[in-house]
Amino acid sequence: MDTRSYGLIWTRILWTLTLLLASVSPPGCRASWVWLGVSSLVSPEKPGCSSPPLTPRQRELCRKQPLLMPSIQAGARLAIAECQTQFRHERWNCSTRQEPPVFGHEMTSGTKETAFLQAVLAAGLVHAVTRACSQGNMTECGCDARLRGGGSPEEGWHWGGCSDHIQYGIWFSRRFIDGTVRNTTTIRGGFTVSTANQHNSEAGRQAIVRTMSTHCRCHGVSGSCAVKTCWKTVAPFERVGVYLKDRYERSVQVTDRSKKKPRRKEQRRPPVDAQQLVFLNKSPNYCLEDRRRGVAGTRGRRCNRTSSGSDSCVLLCCGRGYNTHLVRHVQRCECKFVWCCYVRCRRCESMNDMHTCK
Ligand SMILES: *[C@@H]1O[C@H](CO)[C@@H](O)[C@H](O)[C@H]1NC(C)=O
Ligand SMILES: *[C@@H]1O[C@H](CO)[C@@H](O)[C@H](O)[C@H]1NC(C)=O
Ligand SMILES: *[C@@H]1O[C@H](CO)[C@@H](O)[C@H](O)[C@H]1NC(C)=O
Ligand SMILES: *[C@@H]1O[C@H](CO)[C@@H](O)[C@H](O)[C@H]1NC(C)=O
Repeated sequence: MDTRSYGLIWTRILWTLTLLLASVSPPGCRASWVWLGVSSLVSPEKPGCSSPPLTPRQRELCRKQPLLMPSIQAGARLAIAECQTQFRHERWNCSTRQEPPVFGHEMTSGTKETAFLQAVLAAGLVHAVTRACSQGNMTECGCDARLRGGGSPEEGWHWGGCSDHIQYGIWFSRRFIDGTVRNTTTIRGGFTVSTANQHNSEAGRQAIVRTMSTHCRCHGVSGSCAVKTCWKTVAPFERVGVYLKDRYERSVQVTDRSKKKPRRKEQRRPPVDAQQLVFLNKSPNYCLEDRRRGVAGTRGRRCNRTSSGSDSCVLLCCGRGYNTHLVRHVQRCECKFVWCCYVRCRRCESMNDMHTCK
């Protein structure tokens, strides 16, 4: 048997396992659609609504709007890539695995990392669906027409063009991820993992609203800009990622309802606002590998000896020290323009130090 057949058999086995897992997974594992974002198994063919990672409710939504399936996959990809960018220098680096649940323990542990994941995934879905709406790919949504005709003629501008219709994306992200929406800013007496997840998903959607930007185009005699047409778009997703990372740094611990007798200090906590990320449990330090909790540890991670941030060898390696390797760099250098018409370069080699955590 060649390697391809082995690959196929593995694919089948993984699918079967996924189906089994999907059918026995507890309600806490709601976000398994995320798997669409990492799985190379799904992508060759168009993902269908019967794809295993979807819950029955999500499958139903997908059947009603099959055109959205590529956006759902795009949303998951966007969110995962942005999470890995934002956390590339941290001990927890948002790495995924090729089997559900994609993020392991972090998806349901009620930590700050869970909060970030829930938020960025909900935001990614809003973003991807909204883009599909604005590009005219959907029958249910298009451009936001509500602004049209408004503006300020006195100041020489009006709304026009195609403003992103985020209301549809937000509605879809809520229905798809949370099912129902409850107002978590009014919660008294503590959160559960489920309500905390819902709150953080919603904070992610609000991040899309908060980072929207306005663009204008000038009209008028020879570019005098006497009249402007303006429209609103969602920000590039990197901006949303930066915004959410900042929210993550400032996330607040809330009372865990399942633990009886909250301490008095906790009872006096002010209600959280809709933009804050909340968590129930303190995070592990992510230093050492812990297979049971799905923590990879920082051993072997590349660190920066001169940095003072989270990627510094001291912080990233948790004081265990680091190994230094010499790595050879080959680059094009001393490039010269040669008449006519090409560029000639030399190959330059340099030896650089690379540090990895012990
Ligand atoms: C995260 O770190 C682990 C080592 O701890 C590494 O194997 C993995 O490739 C990293 N993931 C990303 C997305 O950088
Ligand atoms: C919209 O449809 C076009 C053509 O089918 C496709 O190339 C494009 O990627 C779609 N855009 C989105 C955001 O789904
Ligand atoms: C949630 O409740 C608060 C306080 O009652 C209110 O100010 C806020 O507008 C509500 N949010 C939503 C989304 O209904
Ligand atoms: C290490 O950190 C320093 C200071 O933050 C930065 O200037 C340098 O580019 C970093 N080096 C690498 C290899 O990332």
